[in-house]
Amino acid sequence: MKRVVLVAGLLGLGVAAAWAQGNVIEQRQAIMKSFGGQVRTVSGMLRGQAPFDLAQVQTALNTFVDGSQKAPPLFPPGSDAGDSKALPAVWEKKAEFDGLFVQFANDSKAALASIKDEASFKAAMPKVLENCGTCHKTFRKS
Ligand code: HEC
Repeated sequence: MKRVVLVAGLLGLGVAAAWAQGNVIEQRQAIMKSFGGQVRTVSGMLRGQAPFDLAQVQTALNTFVDGSQKAPPLFPPGSDAGDSKALPAVWEKKAEFDGLFVQFANDSKAALASIKDEASFKAAMPKVLENCGTCHKTFRKS
């Protein structure tokens, strides 16, 4: 009897862990998707395909700051299983990985302070967007 209870308990834990894991993967991918949407908007402005819009640029930068602060805890150890494109390097070099989110947030904050018009936008935004590729190169399956 005790054994049955123990097994049932372990099964319950397993299910809860699997659920929590699916959840963090979805949550971090949702943050990344929000980044992707903002990058589409600002890239259009950088290429002159859309008019410069300071409010939209600030929304994008605030999304980057907010998302970079929320993302690190959404990569708990062991959450590479499942429908994730995160590479093992995320957990092998967690300090470096987390540091790139800090760097990304800091670059976005600096751009929020420096971008006042189209010229300052074109000067500052490319550096902010380099953060995406820098991290993906080492930490995401292509
Ligand atoms: C510090 C690292 C890091 C930074 C910075 C970063 N990403 Fe990611 N990104 C990842 C990782 C890791 C994944 C894989 C997540 C997973 O599948 O579990 C990912 C996944 C994605 C995805 C796929 C999401 C999905 O639905 O599967 C998109 C789109 C994306 N990133 C866009 C961006 C953009 C755009 C930026 C910059 C504005 C950015 N990322 C910045 C690490 C980063």
